Parts: sequence; C-alpha cells; structure tokens
Amino acid sequence: MTLFTHLECHECGAHYDPKQLQRFCPVDNQPLEAKYDCKKAPDKNVLKDRSWDMWRYREMLPVFDDAHIVSLGEGMSPLLQANNLDYGFSNLYIKDEGQNPTGSFKARGLSMAISKAKELGVKVSSIPTAGNAGSALSAYGAKAGMTIHAYMPKQTPEVFQIDCGITGAKVNTIEGNISDAGKQMRADMQDDWWDVTTLKEPYRLEGKKTMGYEIAEQMQWKLPDVILYPTGGGTGLIGIWKAFKEMLEMGWIEDIPTRMVAVQIEQCNPIVQAFENNDSGSFPYENPGVTIANGLRVPHAFGHKLILKTLYESKGTAIDVSDEEMHRGISELAKAEGLFVSPEGAAVWEAAKKLLDQGWIKEEESVVLLNTGSAYKYIENMR
Ligand SMILES: Cc1ncc(COP(=O)(O)O)c(C=O)c1O
Ligand SMILES: [Zn+2]
Repeated sequence: MTLFTHLECHECGAHYDPKQLQRFCPVDNQPLEAKYDCKKAPDKNVLKDRSWDMWRYREMLPVFDDAHIVSLGEGMSPLLQANNLDYGFSNLYIKDEGQNPTGSFKARGLSMAISKAKELGVKVSSIPTAGNAGSALSAYGAKAGMTIHAYMPKQTPEVFQIDCGITGAKVNTIEGNISDAGKQMRADMQDDWWDVTTLKEPYRLEGKKTMGYEIAEQMQWKLPDVILYPTGGGTGLIGIWKAFKEMLEMGWIEDIPTRMVAVQIEQCNPIVQAFENNDSGSFPYENPGVTIANGLRVPHAFGHKLILKTLYESKGTAIDVSDEEMHRGISELAKAEGLFVSPEGAAVWEAAKKLLDQGWIKEEESVVLLNTGSAYKYIENMR
C-alpha cells in the first residue's frame, strides 16, 4: 500500500536501503528523507473513504506492512477559524495539535517512528526530550511493548516525568538543556538501544509531515499564504514543506504559495540569528536561558540546515518572542477563542501579530497558526 522506495540524504543525494535501520547520512552528518514513487499516487478522492487519522495518507507513509502500525488515533486535529481575535487578520486559522494523543503533535512523529522501529525489529528506544516527545514515545512504546529510556532537562514540567514513568519508561532527569540530555543518553546507550533523536532517525519527519497533508485537505487543497510554526528541532516545519512538495508532484495541489515562518524564543533563537546572517552552516548556541516554552529551548537543531533551506525556499522568515509575550498570547487566545494553548502555540500568535504590524503579513492573507501542544501539560509554567 505504501509508495515508499528509499531513503535519501538531502545534502549529497546518497541513497540508503529502507529495509535496514538507518539513522542519518554518515558522509555529511545530515538527515535522510523518505522518498516515494509519486507517479503511482492515487487520485486524492480516495481519501473520502479513509480513517479519520494521519494514516489516511497511507501511500505516502513509510510503513510497509499495516500489521506494524502502532496507533493511538493521532492526527486529523481540527483547523479552527479564529474570528474573535480582533487584531486585523481576516483569514486566521489555528490548527489545534493539543488534541492529539498525549497532548501534542509529537504523537504523529513518534507513532511513525515506533511503527517503523517495530517493523525493523527494535525492542528498546531512547530519546532526549523537552517533555512532549518523551510522553509520546513512552505511550507508543508501551503500546508496542518496547522498553523506553527518556532523558529530559530537570526544568521539564513534572507532568512529563509522571506520564513517561506511568507508561513504563525509564526516566532520567538531566542538569542542563536538551543537548545535555542527548549527551547523557549517548553516554548511557547500549548496543540494542534505538536512538529516535529528532532527525537523527528518519521517520518522525514522516509522521509530522501529515500536518501539511491535513492543512491542504482541510483548506480544500488551496494552501494558506503563511504558516507559523514554533521551531525547536524543526521537524514539523521541514515536514509540512516536504508534504507540500510531495502533493505538488502527485498533482493533489496546483501550487505552493505558502511562506513558512520559524518562531523561536528570545532566550534561544539560533535559527533567527542564522536566518538574519544568511548562515546555512551549523550554529552552536550555548547555555540558553530558562523559558515557559520548554519545547523551544533547543540550542542546536540537528536539522539546522534543512530548517533554513525550508525558510529560504518558501520565502519565509524567522522571528522570536519573549516569555512575557507568550503569557499574554495564552491569555488572549483563551479569552477570545476558548483555546488553552501551550506556550509554543502562544508564541506563534504573538509572532503573527508582529509580522502583521511590520507589513510582512497582509490583512487579507490566509494564515495558519500551529498550536503544537495542550496547555494542560504546562500548568506549572502558567501559575
Ligand atoms: C509543544 C511543542 N511545540 C514545539 C516544539 C518544537 O518542535 P520541533 O522540534 O518539531 O521544532 C516542541 C518540542 O518539544 C513542543 O513540545
Ligand atoms: Zn549525505
């Protein structure tokens, strides 16, 4: 049922065997992308009879055998029209990813990663996490009967430690940021551990890209002018753009007018800095300050180059916001739209307002904000 053919390095184009476990391209240390035989794609009308979850795009997902799919009902989150926010936008939408299993969009990526890991015989998986990815990996790992090791910064809200633990994961809290958690994980790793670190494993991206398919389908195959995405590791941003290009190749959409915006936080904005300085190389950023948006405290994304490539290709931009602004955004979205969003979701709303004020977004343009997570996981950050 899948049209998946092989894995390919986005940088040097080398091909990798999809029947084996693969991580990233060892030649240039860059992420691999799953490639599909788009010429054989069905008409998009086939979707009308499909399940109401991310697996409806089955041909463009990399699992070979349906028996290996590990699902908790992820995807097909609502795309809500935000017409009460009185700021000047006439076509504003919020895709509410907080309604996914385990309360965030991370469910998509980890459902896919665990399904592929199961298909390829993995029994133990490990992850450095800012919280949401750990919750999702632990839940899908439990469903798949795998052992999970989650490494998270000490500052991660306690609920993430609790839900990872309760689903049976082994939880390690680490002094420092998510890069430090990754270092500790690699020091502890045994031969049979499968590392699902963002973009060092090729299939989380394939789960996250389904947000792009859904946005297209929910907007009747006419893509928005602007998408704002809270960017840590960047998988969703890269994935949505990948989905758009695949859909264009399959003839599901006619064009891609969308400008992609990476939203970061003032305390940790390596993509904003690199974008402004036109630097596509790596940009290590030491010791970021604490924030209420734990998912955006990523000092060095492994997918740094791919994130920038997406911004340049889409004629997008990168912008940062403060914790104070996110607090205000949470309150505004709750009062006007009845949505209790994660700090990361509030960040994109605050960024959208700034870009409208600057004239970068025009009032009549269609704009999609990604609320990537539920606020209920962050209660202790909101007091
Ligand atoms: C709620 C939330 N939003 C955004 C992000 C950043 O996502 P990505 O790593 O795909 O850029 C995270 C990562 O932990 C998150 O938990
Ligand atoms: Zn390569």
